[in-house]
Amino acid sequence: MKLRPYKVKRTRKMGNAIESLDVHGLFNAEGDQWKIDRRIVGPTLNKNHLQDYFHHIKLTSNRLITKWDKEKDGTAREVVLDLSKCSLDITALSILGIDFNSLNNSSHELANDIEKMFETLFKRTLSPVPFWKIPLCDNLDGGRDVSERIFSVLRELVREYKKQKEQNGGVIGEEEKRAKTCLQKLIDISDDGDDGRLDEDRVIGNVSRESFFLVASLPFDKKLTPIAPLFQLLTLLIAGTDTSSTTLAACLWEIANDPQLQEELYQEVAESALDMNSVSLKDAMDGFPRLHSLLFEVLRCKGPAPFFFLEPNEPVEIKGQVLKPGTVICALTRNLGEKAANEIPLGPNSEGPSEFCPRRWLTSDQSDSLSVTQPTNRYGGYMPFGNGVRVCPGASMAKAEAITVLFSILRRFEIAPIANHPPIRRVARFTDTFDNEIQLTLKPRP
Ligand code: HEM
Repeated sequence: MKLRPYKVKRTRKMGNAIESLDVHGLFNAEGDQWKIDRRIVGPTLNKNHLQDYFHHIKLTSNRLITKWDKEKDGTAREVVLDLSKCSLDITALSILGIDFNSLNNSSHELANDIEKMFETLFKRTLSPVPFWKIPLCDNLDGGRDVSERIFSVLRELVREYKKQKEQNGGVIGEEEKRAKTCLQKLIDISDDGDDGRLDEDRVIGNVSRESFFLVASLPFDKKLTPIAPLFQLLTLLIAGTDTSSTTLAACLWEIANDPQLQEELYQEVAESALDMNSVSLKDAMDGFPRLHSLLFEVLRCKGPAPFFFLEPNEPVEIKGQVLKPGTVICALTRNLGEKAANEIPLGPNSEGPSEFCPRRWLTSDQSDSLSVTQPTNRYGGYMPFGNGVRVCPGASMAKAEAITVLFSILRRFEIAPIANHPPIRRVARFTDTFDNEIQLTLKPRP
């Protein structure tokens, strides 16, 4: 993982599928192009910018609760689809500034096209033959039309913002500086050019110092032009939607099946005396140790990215074996993490790294007040967001979203799986996700 993005790269199968839909961005970039893209995209997701996106997270969480509230007491609810709409709405608002409100409205054209693009991507990633490269077959699944429609909307958004900037003589007033979307931040950063300056937040967000130093040590060729912000936008939508909603659904499933855990989490939320109006980004990032501990453990043991397919660009030696370029390497990050025992704290009943333990990350001080140990991946112990320089730049945003949405659900409902719930199954699509619905009963709390 740490030899990327020069000596080792991602295998091309998923990359080819993404590029077949004309999406060229950070997720797919390799070598020097990756470095330029990362310097442009990384800062838009760092902790200083999260505040701009937090009200979108709150707005969408509120809508989810209002929608579920309309259900009669105890009615079964299929939650995976709603959570996926919730994540799509949050990313679309934060990245593009467009309110799909797909939780309540199924007819937003761009939202439907983005859903279609995800489906096309899954299918193309799994297709044994790259049929879209065969003459006259490039639009067999409608992929080209969908991608053209999405790009024309995005192009318009970019044009509008650039026009607005031009009208102000390129100067953005104090008011406009606030609460910008990711799209606007990307355009500003690209327009300003990259002066080669590096500081930790600009490059990686607040994920890992180690990653920063690796990026900083890479050679930087100023002649390379950044990939247009347009392409990065779709990359972000793709990378941030399915991953976040699968994580939310996995957390809810654990909460629903463990009444004792649910009660502890509810007490934590209720004792905070916060509601959806008063909860702040700081509460979501630094409060709720029990909720954080559950989230860290779900991501570690049941997260949406348990492995990666990689290949060497040049002969590389790994564990004494020289691998030729093109050799497919499956990096089992979840499994490897379980072996880095010194980095995974034991649970309260000495649960080891191979067990799922939602209270593992809790610690208490002498006055018995609870806090949470922040996971590290120095030795590869905790890798749900990857490892090395390519570690996920959206990790903080994902955490803010997960904690806020779970907080709002726990405050309002007592949840349980329906009677005789069929076993839940996971399937590898773009991410490792659920292939059947999770059905929960939602009982409003008094
Ligand atoms: C729980 C939610 C999420 C999980 C588990 C997750 C996980 C990951 C993983 C495992 C990688 C690959 C890292 C590697 O190659 O070493 C990645 C990359 C990436 N993620 Fe996330 N992610 C999540 C949410 C997000 C969000 C919300 C965004 C942005 C809105 C985002 C944007 C990206 C981007 C742009 C990359 C490519 C980074 C690069 O190649 O340099 N992710 N993510």
